[in-house]
Amino acid sequence: MDKIEIIGGKPLNGTVKISGAKNSALPIMAASLLTNKKISISNVPDLLDINSMIQLLRSLNVEIKKSANKIDLQSSIPKSLSASYDLVRKMRASFLILGPLIARYGEASVSLPGGCAIGTRPVNLHLSGLEKMGVSFSINSGYVTGKIKGKLKGAAITLKNISVGATENILMAATIADGKTVINNAAKEPEIIDLSKFLIKMGANIRGYGTKRITIIGRKKLSGCSYKIMPDRIESGTFALCVFGCSGAVKLLNVNKEICSHLKKIFKQLKSLKLIVMNNGKSLLIKKNNNNNISIKIKTEEYPGFPTDLQAQLTSSLLKTKGKSEIIENIFENRFMHISELIRMGACLKLKGSKVIINCSKTLKGAEVMATDLRASSSLIIAGLMANGKTTINRVYHLDRGYENIEKKLQLCGAKIERIKL
Ligand code: UD1
Repeated sequence: MDKIEIIGGKPLNGTVKISGAKNSALPIMAASLLTNKKISISNVPDLLDINSMIQLLRSLNVEIKKSANKIDLQSSIPKSLSASYDLVRKMRASFLILGPLIARYGEASVSLPGGCAIGTRPVNLHLSGLEKMGVSFSINSGYVTGKIKGKLKGAAITLKNISVGATENILMAATIADGKTVINNAAKEPEIIDLSKFLIKMGANIRGYGTKRITIIGRKKLSGCSYKIMPDRIESGTFALCVFGCSGAVKLLNVNKEICSHLKKIFKQLKSLKLIVMNNGKSLLIKKNNNNNISIKIKTEEYPGFPTDLQAQLTSSLLKTKGKSEIIENIFENRFMHISELIRMGACLKLKGSKVIINCSKTLKGAEVMATDLRASSSLIIAGLMANGKTTINRVYHLDRGYENIEKKLQLCGAKIERIKL
């Protein structure tokens, strides 16, 4: 496994091209199972998670051609309607094939994703939604098998809690079900909007996406289409927090108006961070002034609130501030694996239940640390860039699951960061 070495303590200055959104590309790729026509998607980030989805879809007889940031997919009837543990355990988003497969073939068997470093992450909401549409599920030897006689039937579904993945699974399935499906208490994330726009390009009839109530009228068939994946808002936010932690000025290219206004809103409490929207929202200049007197209280929430996927990076970026800050994690129960690693670097942090308290500006010192999950990994990069001396981050494959060329992008901003190939 590769390592990353960072010599920290320098401000960042430069330009970064933001990649396409991983969390949008993955469900859109899964949606290729809904048709036998050709799908062409562009602005796809080159990531391990994307490769895992390619492997999974190929095992289900989807022909896939990948070139640079473009992927063509064409699905034919699979020999088996089963997704093995080996393919699903690598990435929870694999579970997104369940809805499309049952909708198209009336049956699917998918390994349960199981626990992961950020919590138990159940799938009950995915299953109860599809059950309302007529699917019967059984769980045996770690596999969920769903079956339906005839076609899926549109239904009124109210999600007990908001779930991005469950909204996506039900939404995709409903596009070729019989009749009308209404998803109440749906997730409103921009990635749901992107998936909906893509499905509409395939011919789906969807209204209300981006709100709490999505209405879908099932079509007999969907067709092929070409689609450009939206920019990655979490990668954009991660770079903004790199600047907040290290100072400097970095221009983000390839963003959009929605991402600019979302970042401005969620980082509002970070008074010394300036976000200047340029080029009609296509680029965003991020600047940090020298004021480090900051005390904030932020809790993670569903969109449009502060995303859980930026919680770890925010924690690191606050480690040199002078006030007392509190971050509450509301979405996942165990998303604090980065804390003990940050403490190894001298960070002054306390964990109380689901709350992290940052209450002194000790000097951060480089150390050898271990990446435990995707966003924890980028929080260690931020801390390494802020720290004096050398930080070595082990197990960086987590990073490659969700950040395209992060060390190269940071090098272009003057960071001393290098990948050590092992
Ligand atoms: C997606 C994102 C992930 C992000 C998360 C929350 C992708 C590929 N991943 O994950 O990066 O951190 O949204 O914004 O898009 N839950 C249940 N039962 C379920 C499903 C979820 O209780 O059936 C709970 C989860 O344990 C969690 C909460 O609901 O506490 C939100 O999870 P969910 O929105 O489903 O996250 P994912 O779709 O897995």
